[in-house]
Amino acid sequence: RVPYEVALLPGDGIGPAVVDAALPVFEAVADRHGFTLETTVFDWGSERYHSKGTMMPDDGLDQLEGYDAILLGAVGDPSVPDHVTLNGLLIPIRKGFEQYVCKRPATLFAGIESPIQNHTDDIDFVVYRENTEGEYSDIGGREHRGTDAELAVQSAVFTRTGTERIVRQAFEAATAREGKLTSVTKSNAQAHGMVFWDDIVNEVHEEFPEVEVERLLVDAASMDLIRRPEAFDVLVASNLFGDILTDIGAVVSGGMGLAPSGNINPTMEYPSMFEPVHGSAPDIVGQEIANPIATVRSGAMLFEHLGESSAAETLRTVVENHLADAAAPRTPDLGGAASTTDVTEALEERIE
Ligand code: NAD
Ligand code: IPM
Ligand code: MN
Repeated sequence: RVPYEVALLPGDGIGPAVVDAALPVFEAVADRHGFTLETTVFDWGSERYHSKGTMMPDDGLDQLEGYDAILLGAVGDPSVPDHVTLNGLLIPIRKGFEQYVCKRPATLFAGIESPIQNHTDDIDFVVYRENTEGEYSDIGGREHRGTDAELAVQSAVFTRTGTERIVRQAFEAATAREGKLTSVTKSNAQAHGMVFWDDIVNEVHEEFPEVEVERLLVDAASMDLIRRPEAFDVLVASNLFGDILTDIGAVVSGGMGLAPSGNINPTMEYPSMFEPVHGSAPDIVGQEIANPIATVRSGAMLFEHLGESSAAETLRTVVENHLADAAAPRTPDLGGAASTTDVTEALEERIE
């Protein structure tokens, strides 16, 4: 459908700055490829929480449902507890729209230094993170507050449907890439959910016999993502483990300023949401130094999802050429002194 209708949720902290900066880049790419974006800004977030008591309206998901895609900046503000802001906005969208694939590529580009000493240049893997259940299931409680008997329970739920669908998507991704899938669990300690996960991986593997499957425990996987990042192709993990592994993926491939992410509903029944892996970065907010490239790359994933593959390719190439160019402006996280908009203006010039 053209024009594509895209809902913008700039959110908190550096979220609005990176979304504002990235938007003209997206429009320039769309223009070059002969389509347009019709964007609507939703001012949902912590400021709204302070004035209206909730992060988004009660019918927030209904308001978003008709859009072709959602672009989110970041959520989280030091003035509101994180479990309130995130469970009030980001997580309900991921769950409510069954965005069960959280796809997070980690690719080391030419011109970018990995902090790993003696690193190989060949870091290119993608994490398929389960995004609707697992450790983020909102089941638990806290009892006997303030007494010696106080306890808190936080349950993780793994369903057959929920586990099979992310594992199958990861096998499909591995088939389309190098044919290698690493499943990351903690089944030596967590005998219920994680052994169930292992069993599902075995079952789905039968549908994809040509894919080579490696199993790693999450502690060893964390080590190996640093020790031998070049050995990975596709990783699949539960919600919490995938969250942790993708921060490692971000840092070994150049940092939070570059890492993109898609929260994808593969059935297309609901809109998918694209966002940088990073958060609202309160430590640099207002300084105009947030790296917009993670958001720009998330936009390439958004275009791909809309079926605009050549626009996505243009955007990826523009970012790649920009990063490979030692004279191109860089924000301080990449060792430069440029501002957020210096970077996006340079990207726009490259598009033209
Ligand atoms: P963070 O990702 O916001 O910041 C971690 C570090 O990375 C900081 O030093 C920050 O300055 C740096 N950084 C992040 N993005 C950057 C960018 N684009 N350019 C340059 N540097 C960048 O993580 P945090 O500090 O743990 O969390 C801050 C808040 O964000 C919390 O409220 C947290 O709950 C929330 N959060 C939200 C999301 C999300 O909206 N998807 C993701 C992670 C954290
Ligand atoms: C992310 C973030 C979120 C997550 C938080 C802020 C709830 O860390 O998108 O990686 O854990 O999913
Ligand atoms: Mn995270």
